Amino acid sequence: MKTTNAILSLAALATAQYGSQTPLGLAAELLTLDEMPKLGYGTWNLKGDNVSEAVSWAIQTGYRHIDCAAIYGNEDLVGRGIADGLLKTGLSREDLWVTSKLWNDHHGTTAPASGIDTTLKKLGVGYLDLYHMHWPVSQGTFGGNSIEYRDTWAAMGLLLEKGLTRHIGVSNFDPEQLKDLLNHTDHPPSVHQMELHPYLPQSEWIEFHEKHGIHVTGYSPLAGTNPTYDNSDPTALLNNTVVQKIAKKRGCTPAQVALAWGLSRGTSVIPKSQHKERISENFGALECKLKGKDLEKMEKLGKAHHRYNNPSKSWKVDLYVGLEDANGDHKKHH
Ligand SMILES: NC(=O)c1ccc[n+]([C@@H]2O[C@H](COP(=O)([O-])OP(=O)(O)OC[C@H]3O[C@@H](n4cnc5c(N)ncnc54)[C@H](OP(=O)(O)O)[C@@H]3O)[C@@H](O)[C@H]2O)c1
Ligand SMILES: *[C@@H]1O[C@H](CO)[C@@H](O)[C@H](O)[C@H]1NC(C)=O
Ligand SMILES: *[C@@H]1O[C@H](CO)[C@@H](O)[C@H](O)[C@H]1NC(C)=O
Ligand SMILES: *[C@@H]1O[C@H](CO)[C@@H](O)[C@H](O)[C@H]1NC(C)=O
Repeated sequence: MKTTNAILSLAALATAQYGSQTPLGLAAELLTLDEMPKLGYGTWNLKGDNVSEAVSWAIQTGYRHIDCAAIYGNEDLVGRGIADGLLKTGLSREDLWVTSKLWNDHHGTTAPASGIDTTLKKLGVGYLDLYHMHWPVSQGTFGGNSIEYRDTWAAMGLLLEKGLTRHIGVSNFDPEQLKDLLNHTDHPPSVHQMELHPYLPQSEWIEFHEKHGIHVTGYSPLAGTNPTYDNSDPTALLNNTVVQKIAKKRGCTPAQVALAWGLSRGTSVIPKSQHKERISENFGALECKLKGKDLEKMEKLGKAHHRYNNPSKSWKVDLYVGLEDANGDHKKHH
């Protein structure tokens, strides 16, 4: 390992600011990943013939955290990209933080073991750093859905004990579900992954997690930019004049402002892009420094309470009960 004191001290600084995340050009191999790198790379909707190239490029750009899921249907290609990225950078598996998620069709006392087994094989890794329960929803063999998480969580605890994943987490839980889970387990979730962006800040909900020592990761951090969402309302975040003005003032791009906003709150962000320029641009969010007054201006955008990802209706289950009605105006999107 080639080291110099200069690299070491820069790496230590980066660790202090962003956990183990290393800005471009720093020697990532010097760090141990006890903590999740706060800027990760999302893989939902990566498709076509250059999925592996995109993932490999992300690693070459500096991302050390890859967010995957069984349901994304691309874990084999993502896995090839991880292998290629490690080869091209000379890094090893331990230098990366790899997250995946258990799909709704693998809930229950035994299925999680086969869920993680398939994911590990497809990704081509021996262990995960984090395994999320994707939703508190069990999809029955004949298609019906129900809220279920206690048995599944207990089974995920066994995966932790077997060393198949270093941490377990939840995703898309509502407050009652999370409190109930905490009341029924010896393994509190390390991380809760949920939709978060300037149009859906969920500040009180994040505070609950801080109190309970649960880290929060924000998904869809660019707010509705993903083409599977109905992004007709409100104005696309990256086109919002407040965001654009701040970007201009701070020498950042609108996407970097959205991501820096998420990092400034202590949450991690996992933007997805299949384009090299945007993959690099998004990683540059680590260098985008927002000021207090920028954050104040962005706080007002949160009044939109706009949630893009809510499958309640199509799955016929109640999700997000008690959330996004901070001002009493409960809004349900579909
Ligand atoms: N736990 C869950 O239930 C859950 C739900 C949703 C998402 N997630 C995770 O979170 C990740 C991120 O969320 P997301 O994919 O929904 O949305 P996102 O990362 O907020 O946005 C992705 C979209 O924005 C575009 N984009 C990316 N960077 C851009 C830039 N700099 N300028 C302009 N456009 C840009 C991408 O297009 P191109 O690719 O064409 O560049 C893509 O269409 C997912 O990939 C997934 O890993 C988890
Ligand atoms: C993947 O292919 C698309 C479509 O040709 C292209 O726009 C994009 O830049 C490519 N991405 C990478 C990482 O090669
Ligand atoms: C969790 O347990 C506490 C203490 O027993 C109780 O007050 C609370 O109502 C429980 N919460 C849920 C959601 O079950
Ligand atoms: C943002 O604005 C540009 C330029 O006016 C437009 O072409 C684009 O469609 C807008 N994006 C969204 C997602 O509305």
